[in-house]
Amino acid sequence: MDAAARNFDLNLGHPAVAATRHEQIVGNAFDELARLNAEGRGFDMVILDPPAFAKTQAETAGALAAYARLTRLGVSVLRPGGVLVQASCSSRVDADAFFQAVNRAAAGVGRPLREIERTGHALDHPVRFREGAYLKCLFATAE
Ligand SMILES: C[S@@+](CC[C@H](N)C(=O)[O-])C[C@H]1O[C@@H](n2cnc3c(N)ncnc32)[C@H](O)[C@@H]1O
Repeated sequence: MDAAARNFDLNLGHPAVAATRHEQIVGNAFDELARLNAEGRGFDMVILDPPAFAKTQAETAGALAAYARLTRLGVSVLRPGGVLVQASCSSRVDADAFFQAVNRAAAGVGRPLREIERTGHALDHPVRFREGAYLKCLFATAE
């Protein structure tokens, strides 16, 4: 959190950053998102970048359910027209299943997503074998 605060300060020379209201919260993201929603808070961008939820094949279904829960919590605090960014680094969850789980979860709570982009590994993170392609991320907007 100290590093994040320092990084924010380093970027204050950018007018858009300087104009941004921000606060740091330490807590369990599932609980904090539910609290923010209960308080009626809304955000123009929600970034969900959790740790790997499935490290074994047996954990895959539970991981997809957790991604879906996170999506529902995320869109609950996303202002209409805002951007949802949700990532997965679970090697056992394939990209199609992840994107489908996120889309279904958002649609299921009345916030169908309009996809902007699906991304994966950056150039500095080369993939040399099929199973190595474990990073996936969705950028989407919802009314
Ligand atoms: C994939 S990393 C996020 C990296 C970050 N987006 C970045 O660019 O530096 C996942 C992070 O989630 C944190 N984390 C794990 N479980 C969490 C939870 N239940 N609530 C909030 N954060 C959690 C981990 O400590 C870790 O820092």
